[in-house]
Amino acid sequence: MKNDIERVLFSSEQIAERVKTLGAEITRDYAGKKLLLLGVLKGCFVFLADIARHIDVDCEIRFLTASSYGFASVSSGKVNIEKDIDFDVSGKDVLIIEDILDSGITLTALHALVAKNKPASLKTCTLLDKPERRQVPFVTDYTGFTCPNEFVVGYGLDYGEIYRNLPYVAVLKSEIYS
Ligand code: IMP
Ligand code: MG
Repeated sequence: MKNDIERVLFSSEQIAERVKTLGAEITRDYAGKKLLLLGVLKGCFVFLADIARHIDVDCEIRFLTASSYGFASVSSGKVNIEKDIDFDVSGKDVLIIEDILDSGITLTALHALVAKNKPASLKTCTLLDKPERRQVPFVTDYTGFTCPNEFVVGYGLDYGEIYRNLPYVAVLKSEIYS
């Protein structure tokens, strides 16, 4: 797996430091509130596990499953919600946790889906943001890192379901994608 890496963009140390800072910010912003952390599977699983442990307010943790990529590295433009909301969000302070904001299609769809269920507040937090790739305007409330316009893997992000367990965010060698 590690032989497939061209270069590391964000090391596990950089990520750990940034995630700690973001967690502290969220703790401050939601002080005295009860938070519903809503993770978008599968990409969120590492980021959510790490950031949740730096958020020092009462948290309910729930998941949705969304996919738009299938096995390609370019978004299909269609969002598949495989696991719909089967819990109560009305009146709750909801924070969507996602691995990456790319075209914006997934978060736009999920944001609308959650908003329909009348949360008290709704914000979004992504580890990565690739602003150059945006197809629909979307701005996150909390962002780990701005990411260059390259397909990345690791720390939850996959290519063809592999590489999610890399402890850093990296670019693969070009021959892997072809
Ligand atoms: P969007 O709908 O285009 O914003 O894409 C969001 C989803 O696409 C993310 O949740 C990821 O699962 C996937 N994605 C986007 N860019 C990358 C990437 O560079 N590596 C791996 N997955 C990505
Ligand atoms: Mg994802």
